[in-house]
This record gives sequence, structure tokens and C-alpha cells, in this order.
Amino acid sequence: MNLIILQQPGKIVIGENCINQLAEDNLITLSDKILFLVATPLLKTIQPIGDGIFLSGKKVVIIEYDFAGEPTFNQFDSLLNKSEYFQPDCIVGVGGGSVLDCAKLLAAMTGNEQQYPDVIGVGLLRKRMKKLICISTTSGTGSEVSPIAILLNEETESKSGIVSPALLADAAYIDPALTIGLPPKITAETGMDALCHCIEAYTNKFAHPLVDVYALNGIKLIVENLEKAYNDGGDMEARSALSLGSMYGGLCLGPVNTHGVHCLSYGLGGKYHISHGLANAILLPGVLRFNLDASPERHAEVAIAMGIKRRENDSETALAGIEFIEYLLKKCGIPGSLSVLGITENDLSGLADIAMNVTRLLKNNPKVLTREDAIEIYKKLL
Ligand SMILES: NC(=O)c1ccc[n+]([C@@H]2O[C@H](COP(=O)([O-])OP(=O)(O)OC[C@H]3O[C@@H](n4cnc5c(N)ncnc54)[C@H](O)[C@@H]3O)[C@@H](O)[C@H]2O)c1
Ligand SMILES: [Fe+2]
Repeated sequence: MNLIILQQPGKIVIGENCINQLAEDNLITLSDKILFLVATPLLKTIQPIGDGIFLSGKKVVIIEYDFAGEPTFNQFDSLLNKSEYFQPDCIVGVGGGSVLDCAKLLAAMTGNEQQYPDVIGVGLLRKRMKKLICISTTSGTGSEVSPIAILLNEETESKSGIVSPALLADAAYIDPALTIGLPPKITAETGMDALCHCIEAYTNKFAHPLVDVYALNGIKLIVENLEKAYNDGGDMEARSALSLGSMYGGLCLGPVNTHGVHCLSYGLGGKYHISHGLANAILLPGVLRFNLDASPERHAEVAIAMGIKRRENDSETALAGIEFIEYLLKKCGIPGSLSVLGITENDLSGLADIAMNVTRLLKNNPKVLTREDAIEIYKKLL
């Protein structure tokens, strides 16, 4: 068996209304100053919790995170200034991947002698200075349990990944009740992102039996429940399943991570500001078709986890799985083509150039994916 190192948050608290435990968490009770970074739609839920912690004698600052799109270096800078001023003991991020990535980096960089341009890349961030609690409110990125944070460089229009065990939260809270208000479009897109994490881990060049368990369970939970939650946001059972499924996806990210889908989506997010989940969702069938012949059995197992019956051979089973993903995308209102989002043939070589630079993910693809292959995959999805 190949060696693998599994690093996870100090604790994972999961279940309906588990947010109600937060004030008693010893990460909070043993802190004097707590900074909350909260996505706008969650403010009303978090304010009374913050008030209660304040009344227990702590200093509490709640910063509203109201930036749209992927977080940029400048936006992060403005948050870091506020955090440096307050010097919290503990940072609590409440929101989707954008908020959580910023909260993780804030906890790492507040009071840190390392400057953040120097921490970009894998393993360069040496330590985190503050305690960190991540509370996810989209069932998508899995950022609450991953050692990754991603910022957008607005000048180069490229995304920069910071990967380090120092970004693993002391506690991850996963409360499906917090996702009830998530609009259908975001539900569909973030759910597809989570599905990509699981599928890309399972079909990864560096797939591992330990992580396969998370990946297959995640695929099953997400595929069985995404359309239900898309059609009825109040379906708590579906929301719970998606929360768990996206957490499984997040647990795949540290030890194995994603491959061609996320790699090809970098430019769509960075340059064309297409949301992370939407970009991945559109790319997923195209990249799987390209990769299929590298490992038909693994791609067939993905289909089986989605509930597809075995066909005559693995390739046919896998193809039926890819067709099912295309069907699911339609059912959840996600366009099947890039041109609907304004991408034209002229954009493809630039997109491929960006993708070729994401070597930390490109190397994970189960077969070699060249610049020409990338252009071909994009072209078929126009
Ligand atoms: N760190 C990681 O491991 C990792 C993995 C994948 C993606 N990412 C990053 O995560 C970001 C995307 O995160 P995301 O897809 O979660 O979207 P997001 O955080 O950008 O949120 C999308 C929108 O949903 C709203 N929202 C969030 N929770 C809500 C709720 N409960 N009810 C109503 N509205 C709600 C937000 O306010 C925002 O407008 C990207 O920047 C991507 O690069 C990080
Ligand atoms: Fe993702």
C-alpha cells in the first residue's frame, strides 16, 4: 500500500443544530477575544450567539463578509488589517468556501512574521498563530476540513493556493440547518463542487483506499440528494446528506486532492469570474470522458456509487455514469456548455495556459493532460 498521511481538524462537530454547542466549545470558553467572520446571509443567526459570548465576559468582534465572487488578495488584506488591530485569540469563520478560506488565512497570518506572498504554494506556511473554528454554510467546498485556502490575484487574474497543515481548523462545525436558506442555484453549484472533489479523488492518479471510502460515500450521498435539495431547500434529510457528502469531499482534498476538472476550472474562475462550483460542474463530464480510458474500472465504480447498474463492460458502465451526471446537471438547472457563459473559441488557448500552470493538480490527473488536450476538452464543451 502507498504511504498516505491523513491530517484532519482537531474535532468535527456534525449534526442538525450543532451550532447551538458553539458557545460552550472550549476553544471559545478558553479564549478572551473572538473574531467572527460571517457571510451576510448568516449574520442574523450568528449575532445572538456572539452576543451571548460577549455577555459571558469575552471581547467579540463580528466582521460581515459581503464580498462577491472568489476572495482576492486585496479583500484579504482589508480583513487582515482588522484582525491585526483586534488581535483575537480565536477566529470563527461562518460561511461558504470564500469566507472559510479567508478565516483560515486570517488565523494563520494574524501576528505571523511570515508574509503571505511567501506562504503561497504547498507546505510553505509554517504555522498558524490563532485558534480556528470553521463553520460551513454551503455544502460544497469542504474547506472546513481541508488544509487549503485559495485567493484570487486580481492583477494576474490567477488563483493562488496555500496548502499547509497549519490551515486545518481546530474545530469544524457542520450544521445542515445552516444550509436551509441556500438558494437553489447555489445549492446546485456547490453540491456539484463537492461531487467533483469525491470523483476527482476516486479517479485520481494518487487515489488511496483510505480516501476511496470517503469518496464513494460522498458520491452516493450527493447524487441521491442534490436534486431533492435543489427542488426543496427545506428538505432537512437531503440537506443533512449533502452536508455529510461535502464533508467527505473535503476530507479527500488534503491527502489526495482534485485533478483535471479543478485544474481546467482555474481560468474560468480567475479570469471570467464564473463561480467555482459552476465551472467545475460544466467541466466534469468532459474531463471524465477524456480520462475514462486511463482507468475504466475506477470510472465504472463511480457510476456504480451513483446507482448505475453494471453494463457489459467497465467502459460502458462508466459512460452511463457520465451521462447520468449530464442528466443531473440539467435537472439542477446547470448549463451543459461554456458558451452559455460567454466563453468563445478565442478564449480557449488563454484558459489552457492558465490550466497548465496549476501543476499541483495537473499532476494528479489519471492520464497526461497536455495544453492541446485541454483546448480540445474546452472546445467540446463550448
Ligand atoms: N479551501 C478549500 O479546500 C476549497 C475547496 C474548494 C473551493 N474553495 C474555494 O471556495 C470558494 C467557493 O466557495 P462556495 O462555493 O462555498 O461559495 P461562496 O462562499 O462564495 O458562497 C456563495 C454565495 O452563497 C452565499 N451563502 C453562503 N451560505 C449561505 C446560506 N447558508 N444561505 C444563503 N446564502 C449563503 C454567500 O453569501 C455567497 O453569496 C472559492 O473561492 C473556491 O476557490 C476552497
Ligand atoms: Fe472545489
